[in-house]
Amino acid sequence: MRFDPSGPLRGRVSVPADKSISHRVAIIASMASEPVRVRNYLDAADTNSTLAAVHKLGAIVERRDGELAIRGCGLRNATAPGEPIDVGNAGTLMRLLPGWLAFQEGSSFELTGDDSIRRRPVDRIAEPLSLMGARIEAREGRYPPFTVHGAPLAGITYELPVASAQVKSCVLLAGLVTDATTVAEPVPSRDHTERMLAAAGAPVARSGDPAVGYCTTVGNTGELALGEVEVPADPSSAAFLIAAGVLVRDSRLVLERVGVNWTRAGFLRILERMGAIVLADLEEPGTFNPREPVADIGVSGSPLEATTVEAEEVPLAIDELPLVALLGCFAEGHTVVRGAAELRVKESDRIATVVEGLRGLGAEIEALPDGFVVTGTGGLRGGRLHSHGDHRLALLGAVAGLASQEGVEVVGMEAADVSYPGFVDDVGALIA
Ligand code: S3P
Repeated sequence: MRFDPSGPLRGRVSVPADKSISHRVAIIASMASEPVRVRNYLDAADTNSTLAAVHKLGAIVERRDGELAIRGCGLRNATAPGEPIDVGNAGTLMRLLPGWLAFQEGSSFELTGDDSIRRRPVDRIAEPLSLMGARIEAREGRYPPFTVHGAPLAGITYELPVASAQVKSCVLLAGLVTDATTVAEPVPSRDHTERMLAAAGAPVARSGDPAVGYCTTVGNTGELALGEVEVPADPSSAAFLIAAGVLVRDSRLVLERVGVNWTRAGFLRILERMGAIVLADLEEPGTFNPREPVADIGVSGSPLEATTVEAEEVPLAIDELPLVALLGCFAEGHTVVRGAAELRVKESDRIATVVEGLRGLGAEIEALPDGFVVTGTGGLRGGRLHSHGDHRLALLGAVAGLASQEGVEVVGMEAADVSYPGFVDDVGALIA
C-alpha cells in the first residue's frame, strides 16, 4: 500500500480503543463472578484473540448494541479446553492469561500462537509462576507452545528482572489467591492491571514514586466485580496520528478522548522536549486512580530538536519508540534511544526492523545493542518499507510516507489490523 506525501492533516479523530486495557478487561471480567458491561472494547485481531480465549475457558461473551457483556467463570473456575488456546499475535494475552490459569488447581492449559509469538520468550513469566508453585513446560524452556499446570499458589516478593508491565500483571493476577504477593519494578511501567484490580475490589497497595519505581502488593481476593468499564482511545494508536500531525506541515489535529494515564504518556513528554506543539491535560506522574483518565489531545506541526531517551523513560514510551526514530530524522541533531533492549523481543526485533526500515527510506540511523541513534537531516526521501508482520512497523511506514518527499510503499500493511483497523480511512478523512 502506498502513502504519498500529504497536504495538511486537519480535523478531529477518534482512534480505536486501548489494546492493553481491552485485553485486561476481558481477562479480569472473566475472572469475575458478576457480569461486566464493556463499552468501546477494541475490535481488532489481538483483542478478539482474547475474547476467543476466555470463551474457551468458559466465559460467556455477548455483543449487544455495540457493547460487550462478559459473564465470567469466577476466580477459580476456568475450564480446561480439550485443545490449545490460540493467542494469535497477542503477546499481552500470552503473558497475562497464565497468571489466572496458574491457580486453576488440577487443570492444564496449552497456549500457542502465530509464527511471531512462537519466537517471543515466556520464561519471564514461567519463572515467577514456578516460584509461586505452578508448573510451566515450554518449548526449549522458554518459547511457545507452552503448558501451564495449575496448582495451589504461595505468595512471593518478586523483583522484575526486566521492566515489563506484562510480567508484572501476570504475577499480580496470580497473587490474587495468595496471602500477599509483591512485585517490585525498577522503573514504572503501565499500571492498568493494578488500577483495574483495585476498581474490581481486590486489595491493591502501592508504595514508591515515579523516580524509584513501585512495589505493588495484592492478596487474597474473594471475588472480583467490575460492573461497567469504558475503554479509552489508545494513546499508542493515537501516537501515529500525533506524529503525522507534527511532521506534516500546517497540520492541526484533535484526537478525542485518548487515555492519558501518566504511565502511557512518555511519548507526549518526549515530543514536548523535541519542541512539538501538543496540547493535552495530562495526568500528574505518580497518580494512582482506579479510573483511567481521558483527554482530547491537540497537535500541530512544528520544527523539532533532537533528544535522548534513557532507560527510565523507556517503559513509559516502549511502543512509541519507533516513532521517536522517525521524528529524529526530521529533528536538528542526534536523537538517541538507549536502555531499550526490550524492543528486540516485540512483534519483530524492533531495533533491527526500525533501523533497516528507516534506512531504506533514506534515514541516517545506526543500531545500538539497546536502541538507536538517528541523525536528523530535516526530512526523509521515501521508498519501500517492509512491516515484517509487525503492526507498529506498518503504521510507522505509513506515517513516514505522509511526511516524506517521494512517498512510501508499505509491504504488509495488513499487519496494522492487530491494533488499528481503519487507519487508512482515518488518514483519508483528515487529508480531505
Ligand atoms: C503491554 C506491555 C508492553 C508493551 C505491549 C503491551 C501491556 O510490553 O510493549 O505492547 O499491555 O502490558 P512489556 O510489558 O513486555 O514491555
